[in-house]
Amino acid sequence: MSDLPITSVPPMARPRDEAAPKRPLLPLRVSGLRLTADGTALLDGVELTLAPGGCTVIMGPNGAGKSLLLKMMHGLLVPGAGDVSWNGIPAAQATARQALVFQKPVLLRRSVAANVDFVLKSRGRDRSRRDALLREVGLLHKARQPARLLSGGEAQRLALARALATDPEVLFLDEATASLDPASVLVIERIVAAARDCGTRIVFVTHDVGQARRMADEVVFLHRGRVAEHSPADVFFPEPRSQAARDYLAGRIVL
Ligand SMILES: Nc1ncnc2c1ncn2[C@@H]1O[C@H](COP(=O)(O)OP(=O)(O)O)[C@@H](O)[C@H]1O
Ligand SMILES: [Mg+2]
Repeated sequence: MSDLPITSVPPMARPRDEAAPKRPLLPLRVSGLRLTADGTALLDGVELTLAPGGCTVIMGPNGAGKSLLLKMMHGLLVPGAGDVSWNGIPAAQATARQALVFQKPVLLRRSVAANVDFVLKSRGRDRSRRDALLREVGLLHKARQPARLLSGGEAQRLALARALATDPEVLFLDEATASLDPASVLVIERIVAAARDCGTRIVFVTHDVGQARRMADEVVFLHRGRVAEHSPADVFFPEPRSQAARDYLAGRIVL
């Protein structure tokens, strides 16, 4: 196993939207993905295929490698070995056609409206869509307010509006509702489900089993850097095959 440094792809090295081929991004094929740091395997031979459509929930204990896997699929991190291919398109060339929402919202120190305007302008999208996007996430009435005054749940809803403003073909969410109030969690789940129903491919990382049950069409259970299980939701929840997933769903500590 190679012990290569973890390298980020510099933003300027990523090809722009128009450079990306316009064939569909799905299916995604992840093969033999490995990443080691200081001799420790963080991802250890991950094999995964994501078909078009639906919501894949990625679950697993802390440190299982969920965030690393997401960043590699999105093209933000380069694996030490293995391959990420979006219907034949290398991950780094597919990044602009996807959006990633993190646990902590990344916002500009500008008004709520200007945060969305910035994304629409930088992507060459129609700026008249801004109000519709803000309405969708329930923030139209706060459009003129500085984004830094938003509550945690509101800020995350604005981050989601910014992600949707890019018209992503794939939307990644990494514990995006982890520290939010229940009302904001439900609003975000509803918006993500609506995006899925309109054809956006969703990849949703959560440690919340209730949320996973609500959102998942299929589940990838990651354990110690490996895919322990990849099953349809109606198979995974009633009858998880791996001991790690059984323990996890039963609320037992999984190391
Ligand atoms: N840049 C990095 N360099 C070295 N180790 C890392 C780096 N990022 C994450 N790790 C380690 O990799 C493991 C998996 O991390 P992560 O993907 O964040 O886990 P999680 O499943 O909780 O999202 C953890 O042990 C973490 O400490
Ligand atoms: Mg994580």
